[in-house]
Amino acid sequence: MNLDAHISQVAKEFNTYAVNYIDKCDCKSQLWKAMSYGVMNGGKRIRPYLIIELAKYIKIKKSNYMRLALATEFVHAYSLIHDDLPGMDNDDLRRGKPSTHKKHGEANAILAGNSLLTLAFEILSNKKTHPSATVRIRLIELLASLAGHKGLAGGQSLDLIYESTKPSENNILAMHRLKTAHLFEFCMVSTLILSGSTNQKKITEFRKYGNNFGLIFQAIDDLLDYNTDSKLDKKNRKMIGNNILKYKSLIEVNTYCKKLADSAIKRSTFFSNEKNPLQSLIYHMINRKT
Ligand code: IPE
Ligand code: IPE
Ligand code: MG
Ligand code: MG
Ligand code: MG
Repeated sequence: MNLDAHISQVAKEFNTYAVNYIDKCDCKSQLWKAMSYGVMNGGKRIRPYLIIELAKYIKIKKSNYMRLALATEFVHAYSLIHDDLPGMDNDDLRRGKPSTHKKHGEANAILAGNSLLTLAFEILSNKKTHPSATVRIRLIELLASLAGHKGLAGGQSLDLIYESTKPSENNILAMHRLKTAHLFEFCMVSTLILSGSTNQKKITEFRKYGNNFGLIFQAIDDLLDYNTDSKLDKKNRKMIGNNILKYKSLIEVNTYCKKLADSAIKRSTFFSNEKNPLQSLIYHMINRKT
């Protein structure tokens, strides 16, 4: 099976798990509907894919790693719901459908984002995620630090500031690291933590893979946004704020991404093992079309 087909298959399994979790709640509130909408309106599920494939490879229990994947995707969904708000990117569409604030109103979208973020911590702090309280606290601490003002939210704030200032290329790359790469770093390191490992060398290698994967992912997202935007007529075209293509040509983006992939793989005995499913994945991300 090729990689895209495998990613879709794992996404399907993840979606079944997520729907089951959402249905079990038996919640009928407007807020819960907005939350479910923000999570279940499509999405490639690439963060769950990383967690699931890595967890299988290092032999973690499915009942544990699926909860980690769900918590992480909830944080991602929150970040996109807020990213689309009028005060941020002001996007009416997400994955080709009305964004959460267009469908459920701005107040519900803000609250849905907040509640998905807190729900992620609720999932991680539950014994079903891992029997050891030490492991659970390590997961919670890591997510708090990578999602907050020194991580994802901090990066989103810089992205907005840079819309009215003149960021350097290094400013843009540092912002990508925060707004996008930190959550990928969480996927990698949290899965290692879930296996009970405290091996510092491995943690550093996993952190690097996640970071480089995230930088590649955002660079290609910028490129895809740019291509979509160029196809729109003048009236519908949005100004591309901090797109990486302000500073790099298409060929330079490609070289930059290859270097990031190489440096995550080559100096690591764990990732340079050809049986490791994450080795080809990082190169595959450079050529993704969606
Ligand atoms: C989009 O992420 C936002 C970025 C961090 C670039 P994805 O491309 O993973 O979004 P979905 O969930 O698959 O739509
Ligand atoms: C999103 O970056 C990053 C986060 C949501 C953390 P973008 O603003 O480029 O994402 P899209 O293009 O709207 O998906
Ligand atoms: Mg944005
Ligand atoms: Mg956006
Ligand atoms: Mg984008």
